[in-house]
Amino acid sequence: MARKVVLAYSGGLDTSVAIKWLGEKYDMEVVTLTIDVGNEADSASLRRKALGTGAVKALVEDASERFVSYFIFPALQADAVYEGQYPLATALSRPLIAKLLVDTAQAEGASAVAHGCTGKGNDQVRFEVSIAALSPGLEIIAPAREWGMTREQTIIYAHEHDIPVPISVASPYSIDQNLWGRSIECGALEDPWVEPPEEVFVWTRSIPDTPAEPCYVEIGFEQGLPISLNGDEMDGVSLIGQLNRLAGEHGVGRVDHIENRLVGIKSREVYEAPAATVLLRAHQALEAMTLSKNQLRFKEKVAAEYADLVYNGLWFSRFHQDLACYVQSSQRHVTGTVRVKLNKGNCTVVGRKSTKSLYSFGLATYDKGDLFDQSASPGFIHIWGLPLKTQAQVQLLGQPEGPLSILALEGKGKANKRRGKRK
Ligand code: ARG
Repeated sequence: MARKVVLAYSGGLDTSVAIKWLGEKYDMEVVTLTIDVGNEADSASLRRKALGTGAVKALVEDASERFVSYFIFPALQADAVYEGQYPLATALSRPLIAKLLVDTAQAEGASAVAHGCTGKGNDQVRFEVSIAALSPGLEIIAPAREWGMTREQTIIYAHEHDIPVPISVASPYSIDQNLWGRSIECGALEDPWVEPPEEVFVWTRSIPDTPAEPCYVEIGFEQGLPISLNGDEMDGVSLIGQLNRLAGEHGVGRVDHIENRLVGIKSREVYEAPAATVLLRAHQALEAMTLSKNQLRFKEKVAAEYADLVYNGLWFSRFHQDLACYVQSSQRHVTGTVRVKLNKGNCTVVGRKSTKSLYSFGLATYDKGDLFDQSASPGFIHIWGLPLKTQAQVQLLGQPEGPLSILALEGKGKANKRRGKRK
């Protein structure tokens, strides 16, 4: 009996060709597994296509809810954004797909799993590191990395084997999308000087085509999780879907990023992430109001570490569990509502309220009702500035360097003025 392999199948050129290639090269029976993470996969036609190409079984699994609950929302609570720009849509989906590949391999009695990644990207790393963490003995095959065919040759292989070549092959772009965002690479984008052509954007309108009037959105959070949109409570999948449409209409969420890949390459990546942009901004605004300064400063560091580990494929690490515990704990009082204004590509937080707010009107106001004791400030300033004053007296006036060399200049200036007077 032929061995079985479960192939992560998108229906694109590489994974379609992989079905045939795995049969020919490895003499394996291929079970395809397509994971719907909100990328609007047409499951019936995907299944037909996989079976038509030679798969012995074609599975499609809707994992949108799990994607939101276990991946997107925890990353939102962490404020995870890679290099300050990329909300990690693709990176977050990979460990979920890896988990479902492993589960399916077990259920189907398969001895291997396969994915369609090339050898140049991050996704191969994310898949394989995750699979190895979950099932150390499971064989992993990466056909597109192994077969050494160019894109041209892959298309010829498809024609020779009667594999329908997807329409997307005509497009010069490589695209991956899910609920949290859409990524576009290749084609004209490989020249970092070239402005992304309008045709690469599908979820976001170009600015001239957006409504003139701004749109206000209110997002309700409970313990760092978005639970309502404009007062309507709804599940995460619907909330993200609605926000993607709404913010996309106003041109919000375009990103153009020179990104540091894990494999050492800098690549130019364009993203559309309307919902992610709005939710991250709103969440951070609520944190600014409900977390202390120390919590915020520390959480920024955690966010950067968290984003790196997600990007670098370490989702199933103990390090992640540790950081996630901190993040969870930090969200206890991140409850409230944030009002955001969407207009002409901008997403601006214009209001926030929370029963757990640390903002005190009495302390902040310059009007009557001021509760701040200004007479305490001189004592505070005296002690706060004491180490600086002590050090300056001993060390600052010698030879000031860098920006502080202005002190020496002023000295000269004064001397010149004095000389001038003497004349
Ligand atoms: N650069 C992004 C990342 O590494 C997006 C990758 C998109 N993947 C793809 N196969 N087109 O997460």
